[in-house]
This record gives sequence, structure tokens and C-alpha cells, in this order.
Amino acid sequence: MVTKTGRPKPVDRESEFLVNEIFFSTTDLVGNILSGNSVFVRVSQYDKEEIIGAPHNIIRHPDMPRVVFKVLWDYLKAKKPVVAYVKNMTKEGRYYWVLAAAFPTSNGYLSIRIKPTSEIFKLIPSVYEKLLTAEENGGMEASLTLLLDILKSKGFEDYDSFMSTILIEELNCRQKLIHDNQELIAGLSQLEAAPIQDRGARDLVSTLNDIKTLCSEVTSSFDCLFDDFGNLLSVEKTLKDTSVSVLSFSEQISILSLNVNINSYFAGEAGRTLSVVAKTIKNKTEEIESFTQAIVKLSRDISNHTQRLGFQTSTPRLQSAMINVFIQEVYDHALKRKVESDEIMDVKANILVLIELFTNTFSQLTNLLVPIGGKINDILDLITSINTSIYELERCNFLGNIEAAVIGEKGVKFNFTFSEIKESTSVTKQSLMDFRRYLCGIIETTQSIKNSNMKILQLVSSIKKTMDKLQVVA
Ligand SMILES: Cc1cc2nc3c(=O)[nH]c(=O)nc-3n(C[C@H](O)[C@H](O)[C@H](O)COP(=O)(O)O)c2cc1C
Repeated sequence: MVTKTGRPKPVDRESEFLVNEIFFSTTDLVGNILSGNSVFVRVSQYDKEEIIGAPHNIIRHPDMPRVVFKVLWDYLKAKKPVVAYVKNMTKEGRYYWVLAAAFPTSNGYLSIRIKPTSEIFKLIPSVYEKLLTAEENGGMEASLTLLLDILKSKGFEDYDSFMSTILIEELNCRQKLIHDNQELIAGLSQLEAAPIQDRGARDLVSTLNDIKTLCSEVTSSFDCLFDDFGNLLSVEKTLKDTSVSVLSFSEQISILSLNVNINSYFAGEAGRTLSVVAKTIKNKTEEIESFTQAIVKLSRDISNHTQRLGFQTSTPRLQSAMINVFIQEVYDHALKRKVESDEIMDVKANILVLIELFTNTFSQLTNLLVPIGGKINDILDLITSINTSIYELERCNFLGNIEAAVIGEKGVKFNFTFSEIKESTSVTKQSLMDFRRYLCGIIETTQSIKNSNMKILQLVSSIKKTMDKLQVVA
């Protein structure tokens, strides 16, 4: 069905695709499609000839708020990659949702799209509905304000932080689904491999096999890396929880020291030394508080770095998944003896662009890890300072206890307070010890991320070299 405007009429029916399938397209600088892979062509229900040369809005769905495309283009024009959930429309008016990642290339843009399957995605259709209404009533400005407000209400500081989270989430969910449904997915692409007689075809299949092996090594290295990554991304929450508990400890001790001070006033001459003890304890809690505030600030910096690191690791992960799909497709064709040299040329060209994007981003990963390691070391130093203050606080508390015993009956109240201080001090010392151990584990994690990073870069460079051998021999 086509509307008067010549656009298809939307129908409430999905154009389906599998979780392991990935869309690929390249565009020129104004968004005209230059190339699209077979998944894109099949799911969009257009013929390849209809798609190539058409503007990308050929698949625009009227349910999509304009603000999402504004964000997309703003990032791309600033030469930055961007990720967004997009609802698209097929030639027959059906819909399909994708998580789209778009990247600037040397002569235009490139987009990779996967099936969204995360919990966050479930919120998106209703958010987009609200944005559309805001756009109808208040235009683009109202819609942009609403988008940022909604993101803030969900705990995202800005669009950067949102897109980094959704990319990590979607890739993890995709990987898990593929892993859990391996048999089903493998069954779908099972081919009857006919014996290959001629040497050229055999060489091609063997080269493709080599690349496939390298690709699956890359995939499993990424899986390891993302296991580590989960650890790193939880740092902010752990830092926050620990800081909150240390801050509430110092608050509690500060109140207790105030009690000691007031009671020492009522104890008259006998309480004079205890008043000095109370003041020293208070000073120590203030020190602890200021060290902890410094940890809070560092944890915010760490969180900003890990978020950037998360994005810089996820875009290459997506690009490598795309390379995998290209190789698998051409491999399937090669087994069926249906591969043309044009197809090999296209695949080679696309993979080379992907490898370039991949290498540019991924080789900068260690640079991002350095400040994270540095800030974690700063936190370890602050923990040492907190421990020193706690040690001095404990000594004061001990002296206070002795002083309280000296003044007899009047000292009982003090003893009670001092034992309360002692109890919470030992709890806090234990939690700081656990925290120190946790942070040392994180430093090891950053080292293991560095190792995976190096291994993956080497594997990708081997893929690039092996690609040179990729050709159809007539
Ligand atoms: C690399 C790239 C990929 C794009 N992918 C899509 C897409 O999947 N769906 C879509 O509707 N628009 C996509 N766009 C955005 C379109 O160019 C266009 O801005 C959008 O459809 C809104 O069209 P309109 O301004 O005519 O409303 C993409 C743009 C680029 C540069």
C-alpha cells in the first residue's frame, strides 16, 4: 500500500530478522545510500537497485521523532560516531527496530545495525511517542529538552552516556542470545558442502576459513574483554557505596565526639582532658571526611573515563561482528560455488574500511586506561590517609577510655560512647580493607583489558594480511 505522498502506508506488522544478522550500509555525505548488504535489502523489502542511490530516509518510519535524526546528524557532522534506536519502515509499510551505529568515514558515513534485545530497549517505543507529541506541540526544541530530561530521569547525564550504555547492553545481550541459541543459528546456515574440485575455489574456501578462524578468535577475545569490562563499569557504584558508608561513619563519629564534648562540659574540671580528646576525635573525622570527598570526586572522573572506554571498546566490537557476518556470507556463497569476483571486491572494500575504523579507535584504548589506573592509585593513597586518620582516632579513643575510667562514676557515660566509636571504627576499617582489595583487582582488570586489546589488534592485523589472498580464480 502506498500513500498519496508516494510513501508506503505503515502497517502494524514486523519485518523480521534474526539476532545474529547485521545490517550494513554506506552513504555519501548527505545520506544517499551507496551500498547495502543482503540483510538490509531483504528486511527492507526493496530491490537492491531501488535502495542504492536513494536517500536513507527511504526507510524512515513516521513513528520516528525528528529529534533522533537531529542528534544522529549532529554527531556525524562533528565527525563523531553515534548510536541510536531507530524504527524503520519497509517497502510494504512493515516496521523493524534496529540499534543503529553510524560512523564517519573518509568519503561519507557507514552504518551497522543490530536487533535490539535489551531491557532498556523496551522503554524506547513509549519514549519516542512522547517525543513525537512534544515535537508536534513545541517543535524540535521542546523535543530535545524532553529527550534530555527523560535521559536524566533514567540516570544518564547526557546522550553520550546513554549511547555508550545502550551499545554495551545490546552487544552483551546479542552475544548471550547467540551463545544460548547456537544450535538454532548454526542450523539455519548449515550448508550441504559439495566436494570442491578446482584448485581456485578450494584456495578461496581455505583462505575464508583462515579468516573465519581469526574472526572467531577476535569474538572470543572480545567476550573475555567484556567480562572484564563489567567489572570496570561497576567501579563507580562500588566507589559511591563505599564513600557513602565512610561519610556516614565520619558523620556518626562526629556526633559521638560532640556528645563527648557536651558531657565533658557537664563533668566540670574532671572532664577537661576528655574535652580535648573529643576535639581531636572531631578533627580526625573532618580529615576522614575530606579524604572521602576527594574519593567521590575521583570516582566521578573514573566513571567518565570508563564510559568513554566502554564506547571506544564497543564500536570495534560491533565492527568486528560485522566483519564476521561479511566473511560468513561470502564463505557460504563460496561453498555453494556462487561467489563472484564482484562480491569479493565489495566485501574486501567494506572490510578494509571497517578494519581502518576499528584500528583507529582500538589502538587508542590503552591511552584511556592510563588515567583510570592513575586515579585508582590516587584512591588507594587516599585510603592509606583515611587509615592513618582512623588509627589516630582509635588512639584518641583509647586514651579517652582510660581518662573516663580515671574519673570514676562520671566516666561511665563516656565509656559507653567510646565503645560505640570503637565498634563502628572496626567495621569501617574492615570495609576499607575489602575496598582496597577490590581496587587492586580492578588494576589487574585494566592490565587484562590491555592484554586483550593487544591480542585483538594483532588478530585484526592478521585478518588484514590474509584478506590480500582473498580472490576468485577463474
Ligand atoms: C549512515 C546513516 C544511516 C542512516 N540510517 C537511517 C535509518 O536506518 N533509518 C532512517 O530513517 N534514517 C536513517 N538515516 C537518516 C536519514 O538520512 C534521514 O536523516 C532520516 O531518515 C530523516 O529523514 P527526513 O529528514 O526526511 O525526515 C541515516 C543517515 C546516515 C548518514
